[in-house]
Amino acid sequence: MSLHVRVRFARGRAPGLSPRSTSRHNTPVQDVTGKERRVGRLAGKTAIVTGGARGIGAHYSRALAAAGARVAVADIEDGAALAAEICAAHGEDAAASLTFDVGDEASVKSLVAATVERFGRIDILVNNAALYAKLAPRNFDEWDVEVWDRVMAINVRGPYLMVRHVAPHMIAQNSGKIINIASGAAYKGVPRMLPYVTSKGAMLAFTRALSRELGPHNIAVNSLSPGYILSDTGLENRTHVEEERIPVRNSRAFRRDGYPEDLVGALVFLASGDSDFVTGQSLVVDGGSVNN
Ligand SMILES: NC(=O)c1ccc[n+]([C@@H]2O[C@H](COP(=O)([O-])OP(=O)(O)OC[C@H]3O[C@@H](n4cnc5c(N)ncnc54)[C@H](O)[C@@H]3O)[C@@H](O)[C@H]2O)c1
Repeated sequence: MSLHVRVRFARGRAPGLSPRSTSRHNTPVQDVTGKERRVGRLAGKTAIVTGGARGIGAHYSRALAAAGARVAVADIEDGAALAAEICAAHGEDAAASLTFDVGDEASVKSLVAATVERFGRIDILVNNAALYAKLAPRNFDEWDVEVWDRVMAINVRGPYLMVRHVAPHMIAQNSGKIINIASGAAYKGVPRMLPYVTSKGAMLAFTRALSRELGPHNIAVNSLSPGYILSDTGLENRTHVEEERIPVRNSRAFRRDGYPEDLVGALVFLASGDSDFVTGQSLVVDGGSVNN
């Protein structure tokens, strides 16, 4: 089934905007002609964040915008409220909400075309959309084959489809940053989440191989592997919280919970010029888990 991409050009102040989401680094300033000019490490860059409307992805969208990028909030869920919040904080050109299905190639194609039409270029791709928070843990022999296939379609084929349609734009520019969200679960071999852990292991290999193909085009391909993170969507899954939270906390060098805010510095680093000689790597951000 093909979902059509709907682009919303969210404008104006959203209700409940947190004062924390503005800073002097991201406030649009006016040049001598009175035109708005964005400042920050990612000024002039455009980012697509898949799964960027909810969970950890929403924090990635906010962080990239705060660093100066224009952000396409691309999700199967409606990201209009988040795009409005970002535009209110960082200027009316700072974000657009696009709904799409990462598992569907026609939908991915439309998303990429709509992003280029709206922002003129794509510099940063964050492959974050995945089936995770909604998955109920179970033993290896209890997974429906249909669920296994769906996880692979979203978590593995999805990032591939994104790269297939975004990379030509980056190749034409001779620059780009691709960040694949993997998981500490792939290093640990977390039990009772076999299709998910397998899909995230695939992201590590995908990153390594793709970095070698895209390196000659000056495109960096890295992965970011979060440890167990208490995101709003993650907290909705009580089984994950019950099975993971305390054992994970006790396995860490830093004996505390991980939050989306713990990831955004690493993400912006991988998206920025500060990491220009880094490619094919996986950056694990998990509070120093001793099981890695
Ligand atoms: N939460 C954690 O502890 C944790 C740990 C390691 C890695 N991760 C990874 O981080 C990323 C975000 O995790 P999260 O906790 O926010 O999970 P989540 O499941 O809440 O978020 C996934 C996002 O992807 C979107 N999405 C799902 N299917 C889609 C589709 N077909 N097309 C487009 N968008 C779709 C969802 O709407 C959501 O916004 C995922 O890649 C996840 O595997 C999470």
